[in-house]
Amino acid sequence: MSLRSITTVGGASSAVTTARPFIVNELKLDSKAELDQLARSLLAPAASIPPKYFYDALGSTLYNAIVLTDEYYPTRTEAAIFDKFRAEIADTIGSGKQFVDLGSGDSVKAEKWFPSLAPSRYVAVDISESAVEQALARLAGSISTNGKPELCGLITDFSRVLNVKHVIRDEPTVFFYPGSSIGNFMPDEAAWFLKQIHAHRRTDGCGLLIGVDTKKDHARLDAAYDDALGVTAAFNLNTLRHVNELLKTNFNVSQWRHRGFYNAALGRIEMHVEATCDLSLQIRGETRRFKSGERIHTENSYKYSPIEFEALLRTAGFDHVQAWHDDACDFCVYYAY
Ligand code: AVJ
Repeated sequence: MSLRSITTVGGASSAVTTARPFIVNELKLDSKAELDQLARSLLAPAASIPPKYFYDALGSTLYNAIVLTDEYYPTRTEAAIFDKFRAEIADTIGSGKQFVDLGSGDSVKAEKWFPSLAPSRYVAVDISESAVEQALARLAGSISTNGKPELCGLITDFSRVLNVKHVIRDEPTVFFYPGSSIGNFMPDEAAWFLKQIHAHRRTDGCGLLIGVDTKKDHARLDAAYDDALGVTAAFNLNTLRHVNELLKTNFNVSQWRHRGFYNAALGRIEMHVEATCDLSLQIRGETRRFKSGERIHTENSYKYSPIEFEALLRTAGFDHVQAWHDDACDFCVYYAY
């Protein structure tokens, strides 16, 4: 690969010869502040682990397996909407823009847009360094990548603050936030997150392409988050392994069971890990006892009707909203600008 110019964090410019796409890593999941906060959330009376701790190397791989299960319909329904309306959606967005992929994972979803959107630049933003490294290496070597956008990666945790200003260029940009990941935020946080995306627009021609799961039949939602093969269970329980690694705790995964169910009153999926016996744990010199049946809350996944979500987009400052969905309206895709 040839010599090219890159911009590093802080705005300094340098030129490097590299065979690999440029990746900025500003993630500090193992920083003292992050670990302190994680310990506090485990020691709290209502214990929780933020969903970002799902995505270590094994967790990211398990997530890729979840989307292949029969029960987990969101990803394949979204893919069907994208496939069916790709030309129309691409027309609405316009081609040649910078493409910022929020939660890029394996980048497979984004890559499908490359032929129709012909992005000038692809910015993969994710919490998993291994996922971004593999994805960008694959894209760099792939011949199917029409027009080859410039590839760039940012490893960060945007669940609290979204700041990608230092890695993106001031040019028409499409932000891509598929898969109903927005559901991990509480509704007020989701509104704030959308506002932050809106605030990143610095030129005309910027917009957000986002996929959102809809409210639906209780049984289907329950099954999607508690599949028969136990892939979601493994994904959920893996967070305890990851925490063991980070906090040097001694969670015995076999003493915990997966819980995943729809809370219709709150319009959200809840995932928890539940103690199957009384047990106690050392967390940073403190003892945390768990009663049999006690839970650690690991994830919310909010579902939005099209009316609710359009209202959220408008509250965030997007005046134009276009929506596409499957026949059953199981999932909805929006382009907002
Ligand atoms: C990646 C947040 C969209 O909420 O459906 C899948 C994560 N959790 N199965 C979702 C998840 C359990 C997923 N998101």
